[in-house]
Amino acid sequence: MESSTTPTGCITSSLPEEKWWESDEPLYQFNGFWFRLSNLQGVQQVLEHFKPLATDVILASFPKTGTTWLKSLLYSIINRSSKESLISNHPHDLVPSLELQLYKKAQVDISTTETVPSTGTRVFSTHIPYQLFTDHTIRSSECRIVYITRNPKDALNSFWHFVSKSGTETWPLEVAVDKFCHGIVPFGPYYDHVLGYRKESLERPRKVLFVTYEELQNDTKTCVKKLGEFLGCPFDKEPEVEEIVKSCSIETLKRHEVNKSSDFTRWIELPYNSFFRQGGLGDHKNYMSAQMIERIDAITLEKFHESGFIY
Ligand code: A3P
Repeated sequence: MESSTTPTGCITSSLPEEKWWESDEPLYQFNGFWFRLSNLQGVQQVLEHFKPLATDVILASFPKTGTTWLKSLLYSIINRSSKESLISNHPHDLVPSLELQLYKKAQVDISTTETVPSTGTRVFSTHIPYQLFTDHTIRSSECRIVYITRNPKDALNSFWHFVSKSGTETWPLEVAVDKFCHGIVPFGPYYDHVLGYRKESLERPRKVLFVTYEELQNDTKTCVKKLGEFLGCPFDKEPEVEEIVKSCSIETLKRHEVNKSSDFTRWIELPYNSFFRQGGLGDHKNYMSAQMIERIDAITLEKFHESGFIY
């Protein structure tokens, strides 16, 4: 492969590379995790330069596990009244991604990032695995982290549909399952990603909260209250919680023009509407064969059983 150097000095020719299931674009393995070249520069910028404030809130997730939903919820919980903002702004513009938006370019200035006036809170998102952060960044910071995860079969199914919206050729789901099981997926391996944040949430429960897409689906109200408490802004009025649940539901969000738009976002070559497909639980069953399901279930059991957390 031809040598190519990112502006941060990462020589990708020295990194292991693998084809995945989007077209012919390879992924590069950096410190045990797989990245697209276009994401790697932002990831390295974040790892080198991002210094969280104690008042920051970081939403961490593996792709397609409910990031967009949790962005709208966190923004609403922290700001309390978000209805208007959610009508005219895509959740990804309200809560920017560190590596995909803010640190995508070599020169960044995040000091102008919007804060909640009363508390000074800034809310960011990241897909960067916890293991990659050094002791001087979010590991030692007093910032709060909310990590969301989702059943791996639904997350992969969602990812596969998402990539197919990019207009490039997408490989068969069977190939996607095979690559996923080998960990070869952007920001993967999925299992290491989940376990990194899971471990930290057990060790520092006041700083890292672990939630699942399934919990949110099954009882959004209780989760919103739990998030409010964790973030230091508990609710005392039930209608406030109900309003947030409603204004962040996929049905409501899908109705807003900004989220219906087929224009490409400013940060990724995909339309705004690709972040809202159908939501819900178990859609993988409509696409995966029994063999694919068995294969993922076996790996999930093997990887997660020790952590006492099993899908
Ligand atoms: P499906 O593709 O299974 O429908 P992410 O935000 O991490 O990219 O995850 C995208 C997944 O979350 C998609 O799942 C999408 O439809 C779903 N989603 C987006 N907004 C949601 C919401 N408000 N409530 C529930 N699910 C939502």
